Amino acid sequence: AEETIELQINGQRQSADTDPDRPLLDVLREDFHLTGTKFGCGEGECGACTVLVDGVPTRSCITSVGEVGGTEVQTIEGLAQAGQLHGVQQAFLDHQAMQCGYCVPGHIMTAVALAKERPNASRDEIVAEMSQHICRCCNYENILAAVQQAVQ
Ligand code: FES
Repeated sequence: AEETIELQINGQRQSADTDPDRPLLDVLREDFHLTGTKFGCGEGECGACTVLVDGVPTRSCITSVGEVGGTEVQTIEGLAQAGQLHGVQQAFLDHQAMQCGYCVPGHIMTAVALAKERPNASRDEIVAEMSQHICRCCNYENILAAVQQAVQ
């Protein structure tokens, strides 16, 4: 049965009239046309679908929209402010951290949370955090360099 789910998306109040069991990923992409968040594996393994829920990196393919009622969801579309890229986005550009780019929104959302929570993270901590994201192009060195610049 449909329910009305109220949440904030990128700082704006939104409501979704939908089955609360639908994946957050589908609701973001199909109902709100926020297609920067990607479907990779659909099983919580690859990280392509990562968004922030109350600041915490969350795999939106295995999170139902019903679970995020009342929270603040941030997607890649919400990062740039006033035409200015977020520092993490700029770092990914500076280090050529995109090849095909498909996995990058997920990487960036996790890196945004890391930069905020642990601004002095060591390289090992960064590797541990970012290794939960898969990049099929294997552009890991550039991604790590970007995250290191953004975090430190
Ligand atoms: Fe969600 Fe892969 S699509 S973790």
